[in-house]
Amino acid sequence: MLQLTFNIALTIMERTLTILKPDCVRKNLVGAVINHIERAGFRVVAMKKIRLTTETAGEFYAVHRERPFYGELVEFMSSGPCVPMILEKDNAVADFRTVIGATDPAQADAGTVRKLYADSKGENIVHGSDSDENAAIEAAFFFSTEEVVRGN
Ligand code: RTP
Ligand code: MG
Repeated sequence: MLQLTFNIALTIMERTLTILKPDCVRKNLVGAVINHIERAGFRVVAMKKIRLTTETAGEFYAVHRERPFYGELVEFMSSGPCVPMILEKDNAVADFRTVIGATDPAQADAGTVRKLYADSKGENIVHGSDSDENAAIEAAFFFSTEEVVRGN
């Protein structure tokens, strides 16, 4: 009996959503941080430079609405342009959180983006999604399907 074996390698790459925050843009660190991210094995599949309003920043971080830092966070995130990006990698969400480090740069591990570049817990250079579900919601917040371009 003829046996046919099909090996179908299905690689479904995980995605995460990042924002290079207004402090990153102000400090002219966009290139340095993207370099760090690419060297960590992520591929940029969508990217733009935009300026959030207080309304859109408030909507993006609505989960923190009741937190004491919410007003400050909305003010900061709408204080200048930022660079949202969709990134692909195996285990993207968790690996990206490792690459950026703890929310407070004082607590972040050596070599992480926030340890290297951030000034404070509030102004901490970069956002990273905290779950696959939120990554998909956040990606759709910034990008249409046509703006996501896979491949090289
Ligand atoms: P992100 O969502 O921006 O990736 O940051 P995260 O998960 O590490 O931290 P999260 O608890 O989600 O907080 C969102 C952002 O709010 C600002 N924050 N300020 N002053 C404070 O105590 C404080 N705590 C949080 C930061 O910009 C933080 O990244
Ligand atoms: Mg968060």
